[in-house]
Amino acid sequence: MKTKILRALRESSEYISGQHLCDQFQVSRTAVWKAIEQLKREGYHIEAVRSKGYRLIESPDIISRAEIKSMMETRWAGQEVCYYDKTDSTNIQAKLGGENGAAHGTLFVADRQEAGRGRRGRSWESPRGVCIYMTILLRPDIEPSKAPMLTLVMALSVAEGIREQTGLAAEIKWPNDIILNKKKVCGILTEMSTEIEYINYVVTGVGINTNQERFSEEIKERATSLFIEGGSCVSRSRLIASVMKRYEENYGTFMRTKDLSGLYERYNSLLVNLNRDVRILETQGEYEAYARGINKKGELIVTTADGKEKHIFAGEVSVRGIYGYV
Ligand code: BTN
Repeated sequence: MKTKILRALRESSEYISGQHLCDQFQVSRTAVWKAIEQLKREGYHIEAVRSKGYRLIESPDIISRAEIKSMMETRWAGQEVCYYDKTDSTNIQAKLGGENGAAHGTLFVADRQEAGRGRRGRSWESPRGVCIYMTILLRPDIEPSKAPMLTLVMALSVAEGIREQTGLAAEIKWPNDIILNKKKVCGILTEMSTEIEYINYVVTGVGINTNQERFSEEIKERATSLFIEGGSCVSRSRLIASVMKRYEENYGTFMRTKDLSGLYERYNSLLVNLNRDVRILETQGEYEAYARGINKKGELIVTTADGKEKHIFAGEVSVRGIYGYV
C-alpha cells in the first residue's frame, strides 16, 4: 500500500484527495491515513490540506523497499526487492536467496553492510545511509564460461544509469570499475554457483559511492563519490531503479546472442582505457600495451610493444594506466 501511495503522490504535482486514494487502491480511509503517517515518520515531507488532500513536497534520500519499488520501471529486474537496514553483505544474502529458490531478478539491497566484500578477497567499505549496496540474483540459461560477461553488462548499465541520473561523465575501467574524474566510484562483484554444464545462479553485486563525503586514508586517493564529483545529493532509490532499467534492457540484448555483440560498441564508447597505454598485471609479471577496446567476448584487445595483438580475459589480470590507477 505504501509503495502504491508513494508512487501516486510522486506522479502528481497536484493534491490528491484521501477519497481518491481510497477509490484507486480499494482500501479504507484509515488504511490511507496509516500509510501516509508511516511515510511521514520515514522522513517524507507530505503536506495534508483539509479540503484538498495530500501532496508530496520533498522526499529526502530515503532507501527502503517501498521507496525503491515505487521508482522501479522494469518487468523483472528488481521487481522483487529484499531490503535490509543492515546485513553482512548483499552478495551473501543473494546467494542464500539463490539456494532457497528466490526468483530470477530478485534484488537484495542494504543501507549498510557489515562484511562488504570486494574482488580478490578484499573488503568493501560500506558506511550507513550514503551509498548503494545491491545485488541482483540471476538464473541465466548460459554456459558457466559466459557468466563473467554479465559483469560487463552490469558495468555498462551502471555507467549509463549514473549518466542519466546525474549528468556526470561516468566511464568504465575494464572490466568493471566505474570511474569519475580518474577515481573509482563503483565496484562490481559477480559470484556464481555452477554444475559442470549449467549455472544454478549468478549474483552480481554493485557498490556505488553515492553521497559519501569522505573516505578512509587507505582508499581516499583512488575513490570518489557522486556527491563529491557532482556537488549535490543523489537519490539512491532513483539511481537503483535507473540502473535496473538499463540492466534489464542490456541483459535482454546479451541473452539474444549470449555474448556482447549487441553491447560492445556502447561499452567501448564509455571505456576509459580506450586507445590508451595500459599496464597489464599478470601473475607471471607485468608489461605495457596499447588498449584497443573489448571484443564480443568481453576480452580486452591490446597491442604489445612488439606489435602483436593479444586478447586478455578479465579473470586473469588487472589493468592500470601507466601512470596510476586509470
Ligand atoms: C570491487 O572490489 O571492486 C567490487 C566491490 C563490490 C561491492 C559490492 S557492494 C554490494 C555487494 N555486496 C558485497 O559484499 N559486495 C558487493
